Amino acid sequence: MPTKLGHILETQQFKDRKLLDELYSLADDMRLFDKPNPTEEDLKRCKELSLPQEPRRKILVSAFYQESTRTRWSFEAGMISLGGQYITSQDVSKFSGEAKGEKLPDTIRVSSGYGDVIVIRHPVEGAANMAARYSRVPVINGGDGTGQHPTQALLDLYTIEKERGKEERIKVGMIGDLKNGRTVRSLTYLLANHYKPQLYLMSPEQLKMRHDIIEFLTDHGTEFHELPVEELIEVAKGLDVLYVTRVQTNLDPTAKEMVGSYIVDRRTIDVMPSNSIVMHPLPNAGELDFETYQDPRVIPIKQSDNGKYVRMALLKMILDGS
Ligand code: NCD
Repeated sequence: MPTKLGHILETQQFKDRKLLDELYSLADDMRLFDKPNPTEEDLKRCKELSLPQEPRRKILVSAFYQESTRTRWSFEAGMISLGGQYITSQDVSKFSGEAKGEKLPDTIRVSSGYGDVIVIRHPVEGAANMAARYSRVPVINGGDGTGQHPTQALLDLYTIEKERGKEERIKVGMIGDLKNGRTVRSLTYLLANHYKPQLYLMSPEQLKMRHDIIEFLTDHGTEFHELPVEELIEVAKGLDVLYVTRVQTNLDPTAKEMVGSYIVDRRTIDVMPSNSIVMHPLPNAGELDFETYQDPRVIPIKQSDNGKYVRMALLKMILDGS
């Protein structure tokens, strides 16, 4: 039986390499559910990986107060593959009691009586932590405002290790809205806790990484360089990983004017090392030129595919661990 996990709120919870290895090996196994022409042995393993069905199927409460494509659908699809079920609402802020004045604690108190685990996405930083305080079942942070997005970072690191192996001094460039982007915030903690990375943080001046992360990196002794986006091509020449993000216009309307201030296109990809990779958590609003997807080093779709397997592994550990 896998190790039991509780609430998943931030990537600092995953400092233990053994736990990460267990999660990633379970994620590898979850691929069997999508394998064409599975053998008898594959089917047997899928049965072991599935969630208990008796006396009823496990239920995921999918509580999204904000738009989502990958996080929501990968959790919901993963839950179905594992033999579980999910309950959801089109938009919790419009179609739940919230529209009639209900407050988050009550929605969580109530929904934790209907499901076995809750995944919540909310526009306010700290909302997932608050939900965890009122929930009777484990809560997964599916993105809380400009706070964190731990399951995204876990799948990002899984993707990096799958593509490149484990490299102690990995050189990672992050470009985009580092101030509001919760994926880069979560990934920075995870990388710094497991590697001695060299980080190149490239953003427009107004969208620089926030003080809390800079302080963490400094205290932690992690090498990092804050650079303007104009340095991209120069920096890209030596990178192992380039992680591109969009301007978070939905979380910070004042950032709108920065849309279009950087673009990763052929010119950047052409100077990158042959074994480097280019990632994007998506949605891609055009900052990663769609034509670059043809280059095998540009792997946002592989990354989102991996997301389902990592989230299935998390669900298994939460719902059937010991
Ligand atoms: C990210 C998010 O919601 O923070 N999306 C995702 O889950 N892949 C990134 C973004 O919205 O830019």
